[in-house]
Amino acid sequence: MAEFRLPINSIIKSGKQYKASTNAKNIKTFIVYRYDPTSGENPRTDSFEIDTDNCGPMVLDALLKIKDEIDASLTLRRSCREGICGSCSMNIDGRNTLACTKAIADINGDITIYPLPHQPVIKDLVSDLSHFYAQYASIKPWMKTNTPASPNKERLQSKQEHAKLDGLYECILCACCSTSCPSYWWNSDRYLGPATLLNAYRWISDSRDEATNERLDALEDSFKLYRCHTIMNCAEACPKDLNPAQAIIKIKQLLVKRKF
Ligand code: SF4
Ligand code: F3S
Ligand code: FES
Repeated sequence: MAEFRLPINSIIKSGKQYKASTNAKNIKTFIVYRYDPTSGENPRTDSFEIDTDNCGPMVLDALLKIKDEIDASLTLRRSCREGICGSCSMNIDGRNTLACTKAIADINGDITIYPLPHQPVIKDLVSDLSHFYAQYASIKPWMKTNTPASPNKERLQSKQEHAKLDGLYECILCACCSTSCPSYWWNSDRYLGPATLLNAYRWISDSRDEATNERLDALEDSFKLYRCHTIMNCAEACPKDLNPAQAIIKIKQLLVKRKF
């Protein structure tokens, strides 16, 4: 049997513990991954007891309370705080999700918080998504047309044509799906992953776009597309209830269909 050893500096150590005040009645413990590559120290998990009677309802509220009142060095990304920008994605209680829409009350026991898995960590809960964004850019996520634009007429869609984009255009590029996909963990250098493929299908499905064949040609690749093995973690993880697996199947069906 193969044996693997982690490099010594990758082992996560137990870090500091911050107790809540003795007056607190409803305490929740947040165990938070900490890593600062400039310190030369191993990653650690710090434990923060939070008085939930004096905290907003979401995990993001607790993280911001920790940052504001206990340890200002805690580093995370967030912007909209309502599930729109996709920047607060992280691994909470073992699942990739958005900190701003995950209710503290929905999690039993202590709450563990890690950055998105299988991505390089910039600091604490901030993972480096440069490669993920480059893959997204590679599918040319904008409308491509050959017919010249008319100065007097917009490129219109019927309601039925627009409905084909439902379940696709809502993607907020949080990366929860791609970073929960085992195929993406092992082959992300060449496999595009569920988020990028869902967005590729969004443009393939757009009645105004005139580059369908070009887009399909670019995806017809044993790694870029066909590394999806229908594992379905992506649909399970998506905080917007989208189904990237279904979009991937539809791309595969289109590739078969155009051969006949
Ligand atoms: Fe996030 Fe869902 Fe888009 Fe994946 S499909 S990037 S999980 S919103
Ligand atoms: Fe991965 Fe989803 Fe396919 S989890 S293997 S992209 S069905
Ligand atoms: Fe924007 Fe959470 S802060 S999605």
